[in-house]
Amino acid sequence: MDKKERIERFEKLRMGLFMHFGLYSMAGEGEWAFFNNPKVAEKYGELFENFNPEKLDFEDILSQAKAAGMKYAVLTTRHHDGFSLYDTRGLSEYDVMHTPYGKDIIKLFTDACRKCGMMPFFYHTMHDWQNPLLNEDFDAYLKYLRASVEVLCTNYGDVGGFWFDGCWSNSEADWQLDALYSMIRKHQPDAMIINNTGLAYRGIISHPYIDAVTYEQGHIEKRKKIPGVQMPAAEACETLNNHWGFARLDINYRAPKSIIEALASSRGFEINYLMNIGPRGDGTISPYDRGILDLISIWMEQVRDIFYDAETTDIDAGSRNFVLEAKGKYYLFVFDNTSPESEHDTANPVSEKIILRGMPRRIKTVKWRDNGCELAFSNNENGEALIEATGFEYGRNLIVRVAEIECE
Ligand code: GLC
Repeated sequence: MDKKERIERFEKLRMGLFMHFGLYSMAGEGEWAFFNNPKVAEKYGELFENFNPEKLDFEDILSQAKAAGMKYAVLTTRHHDGFSLYDTRGLSEYDVMHTPYGKDIIKLFTDACRKCGMMPFFYHTMHDWQNPLLNEDFDAYLKYLRASVEVLCTNYGDVGGFWFDGCWSNSEADWQLDALYSMIRKHQPDAMIINNTGLAYRGIISHPYIDAVTYEQGHIEKRKKIPGVQMPAAEACETLNNHWGFARLDINYRAPKSIIEALASSRGFEINYLMNIGPRGDGTISPYDRGILDLISIWMEQVRDIFYDAETTDIDAGSRNFVLEAKGKYYLFVFDNTSPESEHDTANPVSEKIILRGMPRRIKTVKWRDNGCELAFSNNENGEALIEATGFEYGRNLIVRVAEIECE
């Protein structure tokens, strides 16, 4: 696969599940607890000695993610605390094989991905809070890091991609990325290479080998494309509350509206959407995480057949709305569609006029995909059309609603 094919294959996946899991999941204060809370750092040895996520069931989690429309999953194989969820094959004793659990979690993950038809991706830290080599002998540290990634390249079959994170901890350092990335290319020619540029440098291409730029916590924008130039793919990763790893006392969860709007907008901008969950120390996931996945699957029902292969268009539909094209039909994604104030209000559904600019052909019919109801429209001059977007009827509110447009 050349770079173009690799990127296109990744873009077609559209949506993935991010999972932050490690020793920190037991402390339940987020994935930075070792660094931020000395009390947790003190207990870290104990966490390691007791690590035993017996209820971890990737097949269960991934099949739910798949129902929500996700086609790939990214798991933290090693986070900044330096603990590896994989068998490091002698490189370090600080891995899952030396805990009471004693099973290679990355093997379980990749097996479950294959069973569920999801593409496995490996998050791997560049940084390490506990490895003394990082400060004492950076060269030796980077050798250890590359050897670790090589273990991941050579023991788990085809990997969808590598997702690095932590170069931001020292942007002046020479992380010897050419050596790291060429080693990956040698073993896994089709794997995506991603390296998170963090909150301060969203959407930036940090190295010529990079296949996708990152937008940590969203803030996406329409990307400018240069005709004839192969652009990297893009991916927005977002948390459901304010932590990536499980944080028991962070109940500040985002509403489904914000997540579904972020997911839909990413689709409109041709940016993959990577939604994070942080399983708890025993391996279970929270009812909220499950609930969100469930709601996304309900939303997906209206677009599942066109969501992946449809192309973006230049049709301007105003505000955050956008139009995709698939097999000669157009799909208008409508944000902020009105809904009845109450069950007594259903006789007068409010409709909003949406002006489409740049329609290549005249419209023949428009109907909502969720209930099949037809929408009134008119074809004006100069590729302009007007659609009467009727509000949700009683019993529905899909947050971002999709209308199918057939042309003459
Ligand atoms: C940031 C956080 C890190 C997290 C990552 C995921 O780099 O520091 O903990 O894993 O974002 O995007």
